[in-house]
Amino acid sequence: MEIRDKVFELLYGAEGYISGEVISSRLGISRAAVWKHIKALQEEGCIIEAAPRRGYRLRANGVRFAEVEPHLHTAWMGRDFQYLPEVDSTNLYAKKWALQGAANGAVVVADMQTGGRGRLGRAWCSPSGNGLWMSLVLRPLIAPDKAPQITLATAVGVAAGLRDLGYDAGIKWPNDIYIGGRKVCGMLTEMHASMESVEWVVVGIGINCLNREFPPEIRDIATSLALAGDKPVIRAEVAAAVLNRLEQYYTLLYEQGFAGIREEWLANNITLGKRVKITTLTDMMYGRALDMNEDGSLLLEKEGGGEFTLVTGDVFFA
Ligand code: BTN
Repeated sequence: MEIRDKVFELLYGAEGYISGEVISSRLGISRAAVWKHIKALQEEGCIIEAAPRRGYRLRANGVRFAEVEPHLHTAWMGRDFQYLPEVDSTNLYAKKWALQGAANGAVVVADMQTGGRGRLGRAWCSPSGNGLWMSLVLRPLIAPDKAPQITLATAVGVAAGLRDLGYDAGIKWPNDIYIGGRKVCGMLTEMHASMESVEWVVVGIGINCLNREFPPEIRDIATSLALAGDKPVIRAEVAAAVLNRLEQYYTLLYEQGFAGIREEWLANNITLGKRVKITTLTDMMYGRALDMNEDGSLLLEKEGGGEFTLVTGDVFFA
């Protein structure tokens, strides 16, 4: 375990304040080193208060397992858990981990991504201390053509987890989570399969938690839980709420098939019935979103007549 994690554990285990002197003597490091690690933890998003003569007190807002675990009620989801202060992309990391044999339900969470990846080859803004950037490794016993169902089950699970925390979260096709008309969460699913079976699926989930600013290109469409709600956002609680619900909905999918997931998706979607603009690699058109098909595609009533089935692409409210 790294010294920084040990400093964190001491703060986490302390009831109230713990002095710099106690930390330095317990870990055999200088007071200056203690301060250096405290500052680094703060930069990672941990809220650590420093008070003269009393020392340091952790107001948890990190995403280490020690903080997530008390809220986690799962049997297998997130039980294998890695926390990384910084990584290029948790999806890339999880894919390597899957190749090395990561278990079903293994989770990697990073405080910050230097190369966060979004759908359709886009970048995903992933600053330190602000979000929940995590990827799951799944080993579902399903045929490759059923993989979109995992993506839709993920959207259902994340929306349910956020609703458990009091947010009015809805799903925009296929799996963006919106609150108050703005995107708070995106997902990127990547799969490794043979012709007959799926070997593993990596599901990347990015939830804007404490962000108060966004890059210009997404400023008008993005939000965070902090901006959308009026209560403190504890990232570890968000992680656990989402993982709890994901285990429930993946289990439903595996044991009872897609019908239940589709029903939940339909009940919580904010897309159907709306006038939308859709873009694919080759097309752009306006229409009304009619239905989500059994295979997860979106059925559109085209303006000017006819229907269109969208398998991969973007949907914008128009
Ligand atoms: C999108 O809406 O475009 C999908 C965004 C997915 C972002 C998450 S953050 C954790 C995981 N790691 C990545 O590099 N991407 C996903």
